[in-house]
Amino acid sequence: MKEVIFHGKDMVKTFGEAKVLHGISLELYEGDFTVIMGPSGSGKSTLLYALSGMDRLSGGQLFYKGNDITHASEKELSYLRAEEFGFVFQHTHLVSSLTLEENIRMAGLICNSMSEKETNEKTDALIRQMRLEKAKDRLPAQVSGGEAQRAAVARAVITKPTILFADEPTGALNKANTEEVLNLLTVLHAEGQSVLLVTHDREAALRGNRILYLEDGAIVGELALSPYQGKSIEREQELASWLEGFCW
Ligand SMILES: Nc1ncnc2c1ncn2[C@@H]1O[C@H](COP(=O)(O)OP(=O)(O)O)[C@@H](O)[C@H]1O
Ligand SMILES: [Mg+2]
Repeated sequence: MKEVIFHGKDMVKTFGEAKVLHGISLELYEGDFTVIMGPSGSGKSTLLYALSGMDRLSGGQLFYKGNDITHASEKELSYLRAEEFGFVFQHTHLVSSLTLEENIRMAGLICNSMSEKETNEKTDALIRQMRLEKAKDRLPAQVSGGEAQRAAVARAVITKPTILFADEPTGALNKANTEEVLNLLTVLHAEGQSVLLVTHDREAALRGNRILYLEDGAIVGELALSPYQGKSIEREQELASWLEGFCW
């Protein structure tokens, strides 16, 4: 049995009068590459923010590793975000005055559970893994979008997060850079990293082994896929015919 990372019960989120999450119940499991797909405005980012402690629910309950964090203090949530979760977004949010290498290292240094020695070793290993040897001494403005996003992924995983949250991480990238970032996420998942990816890109969704479809703030479908082993027409067709059910 896979460990349950998150268990949400009847999660509701409202902004003023607008109900954005309509009572979502779900479990997310360790070792899964879970993908949330759905049209723009369906509540994907809102759900990711609620799970990751970046925002609070308006109703329902949320458990993290069995602990009720629905009403956790801001301090507890910030601990989870810093020490237990990793984040990648469409835009990298790298510190513009630091080199890529410094950006990655800094994330390790501010994590309480990592020593300086471990941080340095992990930074070097990630730079090799992300193939950033040539770009590591440059500032974010001086590298390609793909290099910057690879550095952002490295920064997100240096602390060995329980789960990596990725909200449209390829949304601002061209095809080649998208492929590179997706390959990295695939490798990290194969190494055991749990991932929650929000996307409306089919190519990105194909990397997951569990796909949830969100529509108007409710989960209306779920597809189980085998772990990604490379491109396959069968896999693409399986996803495509499932998505047809949602008029995708
Ligand atoms: N901070 C906010 N205040 C008001 N409405 C919001 C806020 N954030 C999101 N929404 C609304 O919630 C809905 C879902 O948004 P979002 O979760 O960003 O969708 P998605 O990520 O699927 O595109 C949209 O109608 C959006 O306008
Ligand atoms: Mg979004």
